[in-house]
Amino acid sequence: RQAQIGVTGLAVMGRNLARNFARHGHTVAVHNRTATRTRELVAEFGHEGDFVPAESARDFVAALERPRRLVIMVKAGAPTDAVIDEFAPLLEPGDMIMDGGNAHFEDTRRREAALRERGLHFVGCGISGGEEGALLGPSIMPGGSAESYRALGPLLESISAKVDGEPCCAHIGPDGAGHFVKMVHNGIEYADMQLIAESYDLLRRVAGYAPDRIADIFRKWNTGRLDSYLIEITAEVLAHNDAATGGPFVDIVADRAEQKGTGRWTVQTALDLGVPVSGIAEAVFARSLSGHNELRAAARELPGPERPELHPDDAARFTENVEQALYASKIVAYAQGWHLIQAGSKEYGWDIDRASVAAIWRGGCIIRARFLDEIRAAYGGERAPVTLLADPGFAEALRAAQNAWRHVVATATELGVPAPGFSAALAYYDALRAGRLPASLVQGLRDYFGAHTYERTDRDGSFHTLWGDDRGERPA
Ligand code: 6PG
Repeated sequence: RQAQIGVTGLAVMGRNLARNFARHGHTVAVHNRTATRTRELVAEFGHEGDFVPAESARDFVAALERPRRLVIMVKAGAPTDAVIDEFAPLLEPGDMIMDGGNAHFEDTRRREAALRERGLHFVGCGISGGEEGALLGPSIMPGGSAESYRALGPLLESISAKVDGEPCCAHIGPDGAGHFVKMVHNGIEYADMQLIAESYDLLRRVAGYAPDRIADIFRKWNTGRLDSYLIEITAEVLAHNDAATGGPFVDIVADRAEQKGTGRWTVQTALDLGVPVSGIAEAVFARSLSGHNELRAAARELPGPERPELHPDDAARFTENVEQALYASKIVAYAQGWHLIQAGSKEYGWDIDRASVAAIWRGGCIIRARFLDEIRAAYGGERAPVTLLADPGFAEALRAAQNAWRHVVATATELGVPAPGFSAALAYYDALRAGRLPASLVQGLRDYFGAHTYERTDRDGSFHTLWGDDRGERPA
């Protein structure tokens, strides 16, 4: 019998994705470099649907109906190239290879171009939702040709998460668009997590609350506008007690945050495209800083302010302010993420529908949140806002939050609690709304030491001042 789709690479993500296809009534060919994994999958989960196990690459390819749809779920980087090199010679024009790993979008562009030459479709596809999402319904962000989406889309939509009956899967755009958008998703994920971590830190160190109390606060926040998967699991993690010590789990975990690289890619790409993603960048740097043991040890004795705890009444008010600061900073992080999507779309000619990105992130993915309905609405209208901050709904939320937001950043600063995510977000907000920026002085300095020239506010053209001479100005 012929399989509609094949999955090669049966580590946990690949295995769960294959099971998800099978559970939705698709016949799935399964293959793994070491065949024991393939056999285990069929032995353990064969009853869930129709699997066609294949031990060799040739058998795997032969098991697929044409045009073939082949999903590779291996480690990003060299292993992905190796698997492509193994399968591409066995395929025929019109066949499709989908890469469901966290590949860098530039790699996806390169692979897509190379396979297109051979008449093959290469679909770089972002998949979010972790192990559980892969099995029960992830958010799916496929790139590649529109033609390949016509063949792959219905299968992917069938296994994706659904929100109000709509699949959390949509064709993002050609070549690397899907992996680009997945990368930005992860950058935003970093920012969300950093803002949550700062909120926790402030509630703990400024308001003086214990982790289980903070868990209750997050649980409550999760019933309001912050309703999201990450807020929900924050309450779970904070309420958890370590079995060995009996104390809060969060106190026993080493405070060094790791990263696999997608957040860093987001910032690197933003630097290349000239997009200020300061909130996301602070999140990446905060993780990086946390891992520098030696640096932290060397600075351990540096003085900070006296740190009195707040009065309980003030603590309650402070908690409300932190909610406002968190929400406002979150708006900024998403505004920066969407700006980057827009810039990438323009640079690479992808024509990404920004409302659709918000729509498919409402379910299945790590940053799924009620909030994304509003972003979808903001980009769904006649005229897209230049920045999310200027969307009337978000502008009003920022107006209402700004005093609380400033108070939280000021309190954190005064009491010596680092809040880089909150501060960077607020600085971005204030910089964008400023009538004049001191960039004029930066231009003056550049002109002074390097004759780099400047423009004027009152006339067109470029100018240079003769700093070493009579300080006369001349057109450059
Ligand atoms: C997802 C996640 C997933 C991965 C994170 C972890 O969307 O399902 O983002 O892709 O677990 O990227 O990334 P770090 O290890 O860099 O935190």
